[in-house]
Amino acid sequence: MARILITSAIPYINGIKHLGNLIGSQLPADLYARYLRGRGNEVMFLCATDEHGTPAELAAAKAGQPVADYCAQMYGVQAEIAQNFGLSFDHFGRSSSQQNHRLTQHFAGRLAEAGLIREVVEKQVYSNADGRFLPDRYIEGTCPNCGYERARGDQCENCTKQLDPTDLIEPRSAISGSTDLEVRETKHLYLRQSALSDQLDRWIDSKADWPVLTTSIAKKWLHDGDGLQDRGITRDLDWGIPVKKGDEDWPGMEGKVFYVWFDAPIEYIACAAEWAEANGKTDADWQRWWRTDKGADDVRYVQFMGKDNVPFHTLSFPATILGSGEPWKMVDHLKSFNYLNYDGGQFSTSQGRGVFMDQALEILPADYWRWWLLSHAPESSDSEFTWENFQQSVNKDLADVLGNFVSRITKFCRSKFGEAVPEGGAYGEQEAALIADLTAKVRAYEGHMEAMEVRKSAQELRAIWVAGNEYLQSAAPWATFKTDPEKAAAQVRLGLNLIRLYAVLSAPFIPFTSARMLDAMGVSDTAWPEDVAASLSALEPGHGFTVPEVLFAKITDDQREDWETRFSGTRD
Ligand code: 2FM
Ligand code: ZN
Repeated sequence: MARILITSAIPYINGIKHLGNLIGSQLPADLYARYLRGRGNEVMFLCATDEHGTPAELAAAKAGQPVADYCAQMYGVQAEIAQNFGLSFDHFGRSSSQQNHRLTQHFAGRLAEAGLIREVVEKQVYSNADGRFLPDRYIEGTCPNCGYERARGDQCENCTKQLDPTDLIEPRSAISGSTDLEVRETKHLYLRQSALSDQLDRWIDSKADWPVLTTSIAKKWLHDGDGLQDRGITRDLDWGIPVKKGDEDWPGMEGKVFYVWFDAPIEYIACAAEWAEANGKTDADWQRWWRTDKGADDVRYVQFMGKDNVPFHTLSFPATILGSGEPWKMVDHLKSFNYLNYDGGQFSTSQGRGVFMDQALEILPADYWRWWLLSHAPESSDSEFTWENFQQSVNKDLADVLGNFVSRITKFCRSKFGEAVPEGGAYGEQEAALIADLTAKVRAYEGHMEAMEVRKSAQELRAIWVAGNEYLQSAAPWATFKTDPEKAAAQVRLGLNLIRLYAVLSAPFIPFTSARMLDAMGVSDTAWPEDVAASLSALEPGHGFTVPEVLFAKITDDQREDWETRFSGTRD
């Protein structure tokens, strides 16, 4: 039994996430966590909401709520949807927690003591009407290059020219529209990543098993141009973690907060502390996951994220940890994903394009989505959601293959032998061949799951379902029954045992259906089939079962067309 720490990139608090976000980190992380638990490992699976930064402030303003209230409410919404999708976090925390405040300030203090923080005075645009500094993106004006009137302070959307806020003609606040702006000096803290560059380089070199895609991104940032740049870790905002050195005030930094990307990854650690508090555990209980001097030296730590998050996880967060000089657990493996596109374009939160998690659950149960998303995970390249493909996968894989198998065998047994596993002869040659085939397939499935090869795992699982169907088709107990009821009983016994086996193997992908299958088979024993042959004899003659309701309903053409139209525009 191993101990595995799993974190999923923490979703921004502003709004409900779309299916592209879900498959980009939380869902594959859940698959992995469920699989490892199923194999008897000790797993700590953590996720949280990412609550700071301007987007949270602006979303709250738009909703007409104080930002703390907005975050508390959206946290509740996201937590409930996550639960309804079966995301099995050991804890779903909040980056605004007291634990994260303390830890973030602690790390900043350690970095300052190590001489890794420098103070920089910068010029920034201040809005008198809004009473605040404006980040580049919140200043609008006319583009000096093309005359577009809604150019942003960092870039003109129309002609793509990179801009400085001071380049804009007639600049105004994107928040209030006020033109009463001035340039003011403001002091910020920079993390001296450049000083940690060699240490980071050596750490990355020690990760021989990381995908080239990941290490090449990190290496590019380390070596391109002038090398790794120092990074601003504070902002002039009201909402966030106040800048402090541990418990002490930071002279000159009053009223400022840490940058959201500084405190967000620290929440991975704080989340474990939140877990301890929520479950009546001690500091030692969470530190054994995170402190190598307190038991975490035998923990394997795996992170899941979208590709855009890779630099923060390979460089910025490791710089914080290495710079602290403290024995925190660092990531062992990092699984990153490409993007899922939506029907010929991109999923977009700002434009409300695509299917969002709450909407998905309004039209179909979670397992339909989990199966499609995981079996089409954007691993080696971007992938695309289309309604037609979704309909096909659900109807073929879930309804025709798995659902049909369960329905046929349970109904046939009920009609000929009653609702209990029938007595009958021993398994014969055909059954031995199936068991050998399934043994090989289960071992391959385990290999793919361990390697976090999500699509390959789905393919193998589907092949396992297909093997059972093919067996049933060729053994044809309904025909055997007429001439050799004993043999038919053995075939049915194997079929019923296969349902239990499928429930156990499929649980990481389709946990809700798996639970229904186990319930129908009247079993609570979910032991992993280390020995496939033995597991196919687990249900003994006389063991009662019930015929479950249809596991997966087929998606009709009418439904598909209806949803296609409904989700073709943008969400209001
Ligand atoms: O890209 C995102 O959705 C960010 N909220 C991810 C943060 S991951 C982390 F570092 F905490
Ligand atoms: Zn322009």
